[in-house]
Formats: sequence, structure tokens, C-alpha cells
Amino acid sequence: MPRLNVNIDHVATVRQSRRGVEPDPVFAAYLAELAGAEGIVVHLREDRRHIQDRDLKILRQTVKTKLNMEMAPIEEIVEIAIDIRPEMVTLVPERREEITTEGGLNILAHPETIAGAVNKIKKKGLFVSLFIDPNSEQIKAAKNTGADMVEIHTGLYAEAKNIEEKIEELKKIENSVEASLKLGLRVSAGHGLNYINVRRISQIRGVEELNIGHSIIARSVIVGIEKAVKEMLELCR
Ligand code: PXP
Repeated sequence: MPRLNVNIDHVATVRQSRRGVEPDPVFAAYLAELAGAEGIVVHLREDRRHIQDRDLKILRQTVKTKLNMEMAPIEEIVEIAIDIRPEMVTLVPERREEITTEGGLNILAHPETIAGAVNKIKKKGLFVSLFIDPNSEQIKAAKNTGADMVEIHTGLYAEAKNIEEKIEELKKIENSVEASLKLGLRVSAGHGLNYINVRRISQIRGVEELNIGHSIIARSVIVGIEKAVKEMLELCR
């Protein structure tokens, strides 16, 4: 069974909608670990739309499992990662207009930039993963950067509109896991995984970890609302 890493970015998204102090992703990380998460994932974006520098600093002190810092391969953020020293850095592409990470890194198009960032981070003794699409050329390019791991993008599988597409995307992911392992890369997977589609991915041999955010935070709101309303009613009475 793969380890589950919980991405808590969207706890910060709710907080930032009021630019306030709650809900605090630090508390969410603590409770996720208590529930069995084996890692906490946060994406420090250049535009700081959800996770803030303060979150990362406190999480570095409080996360007891493993902190996986997602980030774009850009100078400012690379320096922050080197300073924070998460157990793992995951390099992802980033575009200001995007709603969420839209696909894997195009290592073939930007080999030097990505290898440069990997090299700089690894030189400081940090573990590096690259978020890539399930594509054999990207896997080979990932290996050439010197990265330790690849996170296979499961977004297209998650969004497949019919069973044929789903099977096709699943096959691509399975082949990519096998190809990555053959090259000596460690493998994780994530993006778009939810309570319905996760099982097939968690059954793929060799996938060490799953990184899941949106569906868990979305479900937390639904399963928690009854208790929250009852607590408020108690106070009103
Ligand atoms: N992996 C990576 C690289 C991501 O960028 C994200 C989204 O932040 C996830 C996994 C989690 O995706 P989701 O929120 O759809 O579960």
C-alpha cells in the first residue's frame, strides 16, 4: 500500500479568502498526521495565493512525518527550499493564470533550467522529485536531471470521460511507473485522485506514495459541517 501524503494548500485557500488567520493549515497538518497521513504537502507558489512563507516556517517545525514542498524551479523559491530544508522537494510547473497545476513539467523543453534547480537543491542534501506526465520521453529526461523520484501526473486519468479513456490513461500510468523503476527512479503519483478513482492507482506496484489534496479537503468540509453547526448552536443557546 502506498503512503498517503496530504496536500493542505486548500486549507490556506479558505483562510486567504478572508486574509485572516483561520483555518490554519498548521492545525490541519497536525490532525492529518494524527489520522495517519505519512507526509504533508504544501505548494509555495510564487504568487502566494494559498500557502504563505509563515506556514512553511511553522510546518517545518511542527510536521513530524515528512514535509514535501512543491515548488516551481525558480531562483527565489529554490533559495527558500534550501533554507527551510523539507524532507522532499517536488518541482512542478507554475503559471499565474492556472487554477491548479495543469500538467507535468516539460523537462524536454527546459532541460537546463530543471537540471540546474535539481542540482542546486540536491547539492544541499535535499531529496528531489519531479512532477511529470506519464510519458516515456519525460521519464528519461527526468532521470538525466539527477532527480531521485518522479511523481506521475494522474490528472488525465482522473478526468477521463469514459471507460475507454480511463483504461488508456491507466495503462500510460502503469507503463510509466515500470519505466521509471527500471531507470532507478523512485515513484509517487498524484493529482485529481479522489474517493472513487484512487483504488486503481493505489494498486499499481512500485508507487510508493500518493499525494492527495482537493478531494480530502473537500470531504473534510462535508463530513465536518454537522459538528460545526451543532457547536455554534450550543453557543447561541
Ligand atoms: N501533486 C502535485 C504535483 C500537485 O500540484 C497537486 C495539486 O497541488 C497534487 C498532487 C494534489 O492534487 P489534488 O489537489 O487534485 O489532489
